[in-house]
Amino acid sequence: MAGNWKMYKTPAETKAFFEKFRPLVEKSEHCEVVICPPFTSLAAAVEAAGGSRIGVGSQNIAWAREGAFTGEISGPMLKAVGATHAIVGHSERRQYFGETDETVLKRAQAALEFGLTPIVCVGERLEQRESGGTEAVLVAQFQNGIAGLTPEQFAKIVIAYEPVWAIGTGKTATPEIAADAHRAIRAQARARYGAPAADATRILYGVCVKPDNVKSLMAQPEIDGVLVGGASLDAVGFASIVNF
Ligand code: 13P
Repeated sequence: MAGNWKMYKTPAETKAFFEKFRPLVEKSEHCEVVICPPFTSLAAAVEAAGGSRIGVGSQNIAWAREGAFTGEISGPMLKAVGATHAIVGHSERRQYFGETDETVLKRAQAALEFGLTPIVCVGERLEQRESGGTEAVLVAQFQNGIAGLTPEQFAKIVIAYEPVWAIGTGKTATPEIAADAHRAIRAQARARYGAPAADATRILYGVCVKPDNVKSLMAQPEIDGVLVGGASLDAVGFASIVNF
């Protein structure tokens, strides 16, 4: 159960969140919990999560170890601050910051090289869904991105499916629509890496997950977890999602 805070929360707000959130998930051993704050709040999150099972992830990661890459943050820097995960290829990065399947692959490889678990995002836009191209988009994102990983690397990643057309609209894909997309992604994984690897991969569903719809989403066997945006900003709300 992962929370993507996007561009919200200062270090002080992060600390306040964890003070409320930690006791609410202390006994939640049925799942992994990861919070992905902005870069500037990573240190505060790691400190506040110290001694708990809560992981802390970044929302992006550079493909290089270091160098002249203004505005980028590298794997070793994220490791040094205590991060455990890195979101890669979020639709907002693809839409506003020129992220491509090729850079998504390079960033995922960098995360793995430096010991971070990449949460690799895929998903179709509205016009792609309306023109019936959903599966083709997912196949292309898999083939051109994820499929470049070795089997050993693939075994360590988490995939997140985000139907981009639903982000910020308040509506979510039905559990059945989400499960169909997850099946299409898993079929790609099966063809490339074999059934055991595909079955073991965790595919998170990630749009408009709320305390009141998480149960029906998680009831789908194809949905292994969730990547939560807006609803992860509230400690009580996100805890009730974790403890669905
Ligand atoms: P919301 O949960 O706010 O729809 O955001 C989805 C998302 O982009 C998570 O990464």
